[in-house]
Amino acid sequence: TDPALIRNFCIIAHIDHGKSTLADRMLQLTGVVEQRQMRAQYLDRMDIERERGITIKSQAVRMPWEHDGTAHVLNMIDTPGHVDFTYEVSRSLAACEGCVLLVDAAQGIEAQTLANLYLAMENDLTIIPVLNKIDLPAAQPEKFAAELAHLIGCDPGDVLRVSAKTGEGVETLLDEVVRQVPAPVGVADAPARAMIFDSVYDAYRGVVTYVKVVDGRLGKRERIQMMSTGATHELLEIGVNSPEMTPADGLAVGEVGYLITGVKDVRQSKVGDTVTQQRNGATEPLGGYKDPKPMVFSGLYPIDGSEYPALRDALEKLQLNDAALVYEPETSAALGFGFRVGFLGLLHLEVIRERLEREFGLDLIATAPNVVYQVTMEDRSEHTVTNPSEFPTGKIDEVREPVVRATLIAPSEFIGAIMELCQTRRGSMQGMDYLSEDRVELRYTLPLAEIVFDFFDALKSKTRGYASLDYEPVGEEAAALVKVDILLHGDKVDAFSAIVHKDKAYAYGVKMAAKLRELIPRQQFEVPIQAAIGSRVIARETVRAIRKDVLSKCYGGDISRKRKLLEKQKEGKKRMKMVGRVEVPQEAFIAALSSD
Ligand code: GTP
Repeated sequence: TDPALIRNFCIIAHIDHGKSTLADRMLQLTGVVEQRQMRAQYLDRMDIERERGITIKSQAVRMPWEHDGTAHVLNMIDTPGHVDFTYEVSRSLAACEGCVLLVDAAQGIEAQTLANLYLAMENDLTIIPVLNKIDLPAAQPEKFAAELAHLIGCDPGDVLRVSAKTGEGVETLLDEVVRQVPAPVGVADAPARAMIFDSVYDAYRGVVTYVKVVDGRLGKRERIQMMSTGATHELLEIGVNSPEMTPADGLAVGEVGYLITGVKDVRQSKVGDTVTQQRNGATEPLGGYKDPKPMVFSGLYPIDGSEYPALRDALEKLQLNDAALVYEPETSAALGFGFRVGFLGLLHLEVIRERLEREFGLDLIATAPNVVYQVTMEDRSEHTVTNPSEFPTGKIDEVREPVVRATLIAPSEFIGAIMELCQTRRGSMQGMDYLSEDRVELRYTLPLAEIVFDFFDALKSKTRGYASLDYEPVGEEAAALVKVDILLHGDKVDAFSAIVHKDKAYAYGVKMAAKLRELIPRQQFEVPIQAAIGSRVIARETVRAIRKDVLSKCYGGDISRKRKLLEKQKEGKKRMKMVGRVEVPQEAFIAALSSD
């Protein structure tokens, strides 16, 4: 196809503003998916995505569209909507020349709208502002068109209005995409350079890699090279999605499509990498490649220790489709054999955990998630800590933690509540802007550790659900952090060690000790529970000893009753873990590790 007739665009929106519904409507209007084949959210394929209504993996669809009597090709690139996947979003955007900025006409701009808009602006995309859901009685198109126009600096009259549900305005929108989005430009006779913006594992075909060709041409059965690693592969198939995979002879400048090379692991086909030919290939990769960097770690342990090999196999399988997932074996005195697993963020963690439990039938204990700390010792040696129990002892010079730039949007009546929350989470305010008379955007720098747990829930409850949040990592900062250990009968329970700010260490210790006192059954002897920083105890509770022997209940004679009781006790013991001399029921770990 002549690049002049191609338009590459994506839809960016806050969650639930109707991106998938609009994409579905476009597929229908362009005839790519027939009415009777149409199922809701055609593009969201993964089960969990469908259930949770979130888009995790992006994909691209090619749609024909006639404008002013000329046939055009529209490539719609779907972007994941959640903060954890910012890097994937930014690569999808980099494959486009324009985007549809979709805003719910009953809700207005939200934090993800802004975060995605900023990414789009960084990628120099043409932005088409669109209000969706104008069919809703609660829609306020005038108000929110003004808000959007103010934000991107256009005339309120230029904000398009559609209903993805009824289809109203969607044809006009497709025409505007052709009119406003620039055609891709590239050098046709240069060595090929194609950017990978997605890479998906398919059980039958291996890895399917989605690319946009920037320069040159990739043809079928060519040998290609991944520029970040130098690895070469044969192109077994090249083609476009329309909406199912359709093989082609090649992809040229501006075209978007897929490659299949037979590799079995997405880490060999990394998002952001540049693909070129092996022979006379390009020498300069396209910019922007970054290795995915796990931000949050958690220990995953099978509740039944014999499921350890099954857990390892399951992680291996999931990794085929998830270059950002990293793990390594770990042993815990309290929990046995398991893995320390790295995730992009909390949603990523939840999704993986849910898949392990649901698709692989595993019962797991997950330790409280933690971020990655960089520790510099006084002797200048450096440690990267992904597991709090491995926090170095000795003379520490400095501890650094990851920080994020957060964008919060809410009705202005909640400014006080939000500022208070961010304050208690060690945030520092960077700025505040009114989006309209009664809605405001606040910008904060916050330690990632303070928002990965329950920040979002706290925010929602303080703002009656009206606030939205988005954030992106912006590096690390030094902070006064200490390790708090929990000891049972004098023995450290590694699974409960945590790294917390020194001002919060005491509260953490008191809370954990109290929680454990509730959860640990009485033993034959007294069990002290202590929280300590180094050798300094900061909180203490005691589980008192049992007074009577259980068997004393069976007055002498009845031997069969006695045996039954002993059997029963043995049953119970199986689900106990020994921590030093103390028996701790499995449930106690699960309950203690759950965030309230
Ligand atoms: P994610 O993919 O999860 O980010 O969400 P999304 O932006 O794709 O939202 P989705 O398309 O799933 O729509 C969210 C909800 O809004 C669904 O219940 C849709 O049926 C509804 N919806 C979408 N567009 C319209 C519209 O134009 N009018 C009305 N009334 N409802 C709509």
